[in-house]
Amino acid sequence: MIAGGPQWSANTHQPTPPDGAPTQAQITTPTTVHAVVLLYDTDEAAAETWSAAVEAALALHDVRVVHRLPLVLDPDNMGVSREHFGFADGLSQPAPFDAQAVTLAGVPAPADGRNSVPLGEFLIGHLNGHHEKAPGPIVPDTPASAAAGLAPHELAEGFRDLGLNGSYVVIRELRQDVAAFWRSMQKGAEAIRARDPEHSAHIDAGWIAERVVGRSVEGHLLCPAGYQPADRYGLPDNDFLFLDLDPQGVGCPVGAHVRRANPRDSLAPSAAMAQTLLDAANNHRILRRGRKYGPKLADPSTDDGQDRGLLFMCLNTDIARQFEFVQQTWLLNENFATLFDETDPLVGPAGAMTIRDTALRRRVDVETFVQLVGGDYFFLPSLPALAYLETL
Ligand code: HEM
Repeated sequence: MIAGGPQWSANTHQPTPPDGAPTQAQITTPTTVHAVVLLYDTDEAAAETWSAAVEAALALHDVRVVHRLPLVLDPDNMGVSREHFGFADGLSQPAPFDAQAVTLAGVPAPADGRNSVPLGEFLIGHLNGHHEKAPGPIVPDTPASAAAGLAPHELAEGFRDLGLNGSYVVIRELRQDVAAFWRSMQKGAEAIRARDPEHSAHIDAGWIAERVVGRSVEGHLLCPAGYQPADRYGLPDNDFLFLDLDPQGVGCPVGAHVRRANPRDSLAPSAAMAQTLLDAANNHRILRRGRKYGPKLADPSTDDGQDRGLLFMCLNTDIARQFEFVQQTWLLNENFATLFDETDPLVGPAGAMTIRDTALRRRVDVETFVQLVGGDYFFLPSLPALAYLETL
């Protein structure tokens, strides 16, 4: 539920024209948004009832709800949820650790493997990847801020820490055109088979789609010999690096969504630099908490005219260094790694994608399947911060 910065546009259904310029029908009036309320409940009916009650309570204070989006997380029996194109999503997450935590023996607690990221990357007021306390908003030291339980700010005398234990949330409403996605995968496979009938019997729409994402529909990483085996819980393994597993991107293409979104150590020019580049990549992690909206498309090859997509949500304490870096320097970088003139094949605009297929290099054209409908950046307050904001 979104109560009315800027940037939440009313939507139209026009795809972006090939030259990228918006048509008249695409130019929409942005809606001013001041806050987002996320209500989590056990089922849709309960969430609807709660949402109506919250909306009625807000109306008493002249707060207008400008956008409502029923969201679902429908995990399977392994706890894995799939996005609308059909792929397991929400799998790879950073593992936040507290750099100040100590073991019972009094020594610093060890970080937890390759996905370890300091807590301050996600919680304001804690040590981040730059060994600084992630900065956040402060408020004057008043009876109200003290009563709400806000801690005195460590550096700013006369102020209390409104940010401590809060975070920043990036929200993007991303509409997905599922039929266009699968049509494009089909066209790509047909084009390769027509060009190279002798060596391409294994290539179909599913083969291309897996390479666009970089994982199988079940979520297993693509490797030169097939798929990365499941972990000891039977779930897709996420504790991997690219340099030893697949340095050339023969399994998981260099430009695949997951390899761009988190290159891990793969941008290292040599094995000696692997740890340095892994550490550098871990300075740009985001904690994703997306949810689907809209009904599942019954027949993925035929559009039913209904609105569906992903409400992409992620937490980070430095939006420019984390979310924006991932989007700009990795996903939408036309010269990412060794590539030229192509962007993320899943979420980027229409264009080419390079797929290494053993000795061959395949190029397929992908269309635009994901459209940004609206979004903004928000401060996520801690409970004491929320109690203080209530007094204003
Ligand atoms: C509709 C749009 C999108 C879809 C359908 C989508 C889908 C996926 C899927 C299927 C995965 C692999 C499974 C997983 O690790 O969770 C994934 C991973 C990921 N995506 Fe997206 N995604 C979308 C948009 C975005 C955007 C806008 C960003 C960031 C700007 C992003 C960042 C990531 C990251 C960081 C990973 C994890 C990579 C890793 O650590 O291995 N995604 N996405």
